[in-house]
Amino acid sequence: MEKRKFNIKSNKVTAKNTYCLELTALEPGYKFSGEFVDIELEGFYLRRPISVCDAWEGGITLLYKVVGDGTRALSRMPSGSVLDVLTGLGNGFDAAACRKSALLVGGGLGAAPLYRFCKELCSKGREVTVILGFNSADEIVLEKEFRALTDKVSVSTADGSAGVKGFVTDAVRLLAPQYDYYYTCGPLVMMKALHTMLEGSGEYSLEERMGCGAGFCYGCSCQTLTGTKRICKDGPVFKKEELLW
Ligand SMILES: Cc1cc2nc3c(=O)[nH]c(=O)nc-3n(C[C@H](O)[C@H](O)[C@H](O)COP(=O)(O)OP(=O)(O)OC[C@H]3O[C@@H](n4cnc5c(N)ncnc54)[C@H](O)[C@@H]3O)c2cc1C
Ligand code: FES
Repeated sequence: MEKRKFNIKSNKVTAKNTYCLELTALEPGYKFSGEFVDIELEGFYLRRPISVCDAWEGGITLLYKVVGDGTRALSRMPSGSVLDVLTGLGNGFDAAACRKSALLVGGGLGAAPLYRFCKELCSKGREVTVILGFNSADEIVLEKEFRALTDKVSVSTADGSAGVKGFVTDAVRLLAPQYDYYYTCGPLVMMKALHTMLEGSGEYSLEERMGCGAGFCYGCSCQTLTGTKRICKDGPVFKKEELLW
């Protein structure tokens, strides 16, 4: 874990209530690691955890939804503002677990960490099928970006305003994709439904409200087959076999 200052390069609306935040490290030598960052916001006691959607030499891209006061305050910060950020937090998805073909399933902003991981899988020559689910067309993010990586991308919306009408589970059923390993991130209810319906093995990126974000407070603990685990430190990615669902 590292504490670093980042400059806001841009902070723009990209979908309904959703912002794309590009951050450049103020000091040289920043190299991305981990799965998520924890952002300090003036006036808020706790930092706010956000997954890293993409990373480049010296910077990262995050996608966040405005759901409360913290993310609202973040959305009002202009380019040039400086943020105090904990980086290098959490484990990531394990690319080596997939031998040939991967299925990535994202719900809402669960698509964000899957995008960076999709790039990794494609660079290793894996065949990747991506299925993304949103409430409505105006909430869709990253569709174009995923399509630039793989031609097997499907989008569903709960209200039918774009793509397959229904939940991602409906799209998975309809498409019956071929894969030898799957990876998913999104709302808990979606991941539990996938846990029941998807065959074979896979990994789940979990979310929990966080205190310290760095493994000290046990505020984010969950029960697994191998005992109590902290989502921030031992996760957020857990293997299917570990989960007590
Ligand atoms: C590992 C991890 C990665 C995350 N990645 C992203 C991301 O890429 N993009 C994104 O938009 N959000 C992400 N989140 C969720 C994000 O941290 C919360 O939405 C944010 O902290 C809310 O802050 P707030 O002050 O705006 O809302 P608050 O006022 O704190 O809460 C508003 C509402 O959001 C719910 N909420 C708050 N925190 C969480 C949480 N951690 N998990 C689930 N529900 C929460 C509350 O229960 C409440 O209903 C992630 C969370 C974790 C733990
Ligand atoms: S938030 Fe403190 S241990 Fe995870």
